[in-house]
Amino acid sequence: MPTGYPALIDSMRPFGSRQIRNMATLGGNLCNASPGADAAPPLLVYEATVELRDRNGTREMPLEDFFVGPGETALRPGEVMTAILLPPPHGDVRSVYLRKGRVKMDVATASVAALVEMDGGTCVRARLAAGAVAPVPKRLIATERQVAGFPLDDAVLERASAEAADEISPITDVRSTAEYRRHLTRVLVRRALERLRTAEARERSPPMRTAVAFELNGHDVSVEVDAHRSLLDVLRDVLGETGTKEGCGEGECGACTVLVDDVAVVSCLFPVCEAEGASVTTVEGLFAPGGDLSPVQRAYLEFGGTQCGFCTPGMVMASVALLAENPDPSEDEIRYALLGNLCRCTGYVQIVESVRAAAELMMEGSQR
Ligand code: FES
Ligand code: FES
Repeated sequence: MPTGYPALIDSMRPFGSRQIRNMATLGGNLCNASPGADAAPPLLVYEATVELRDRNGTREMPLEDFFVGPGETALRPGEVMTAILLPPPHGDVRSVYLRKGRVKMDVATASVAALVEMDGGTCVRARLAAGAVAPVPKRLIATERQVAGFPLDDAVLERASAEAADEISPITDVRSTAEYRRHLTRVLVRRALERLRTAEARERSPPMRTAVAFELNGHDVSVEVDAHRSLLDVLRDVLGETGTKEGCGEGECGACTVLVDDVAVVSCLFPVCEAEGASVTTVEGLFAPGGDLSPVQRAYLEFGGTQCGFCTPGMVMASVALLAENPDPSEDEIRYALLGNLCRCTGYVQIVESVRAAAELMMEGSQR
């Protein structure tokens, strides 16, 4: 049974940089009354109340009534917010917060929090709220009516996301157009409800555990894990082999590249069950006996291919796979082989030079 306030935790991540955490408060985020305040939609779906105090006394009001307009709240002169009160979670409740910004940590272009309480496959209570798409962070009351009382099937999700797009009043500003914000809200509402539906289904039928045995960097390993887990998760979280990195988790960046039976794969999309009986090589397995770096690793170091800790292990593994297949690749062939490995910052010139240098080293010494 889920507990706590997970949507609120999700909302803290995109704006809680170290500098902000050293200075800011949740109350400050609310009193700033930005329409895009990340903490507001989760607190609205949790039906938070705020406590306001001045020298004459204390009053409480629902957070929903606290926001009056962009940058405007119900605070009277001399009043301060002294508490944010949340009802304790009860029942079979799940919640989530999703947002889209231009970069990871910036003001949201649009955001959505959703909370559902389920009873036997039917949603008996729904709360939805959106940020950055109206003059104030907004409860989506009409959208909630499309969800409460129904199973979370595709038709309900479609109706609800269309209603949400109608219910908001976005503007065009430096961050986005009104049309894009409307589109985003529709997508985010659908995704949020889908995510809650999946979480609920998972809890009703917990994943099967399975035993998987394979060879990892020349040693036999055996693990008992949830059958749906990826090889990347198991390498890092179960076996403690953290040399393999997670960049995107979606098969796009190649940071998680490992070799399975000498073939390069993205381990974030590789089901661990598929590794049964296979030989898996990670960047930790490239060291020569005695702990010396392999030629590919040496060349990456000498020619500046070692750029950052995120992309380098995957680049190295993809290079090893390439050189095993093609010991003398041209620049075009190297670039083609590394198309699935993204560097988001520095570029590929030194990486390509490193692979060429590794090829030469290996042809001299004929080892990887
Ligand atoms: S983490 Fe696997 S491809 Fe990006
Ligand atoms: S992503 Fe690692 S150097 Fe660019």
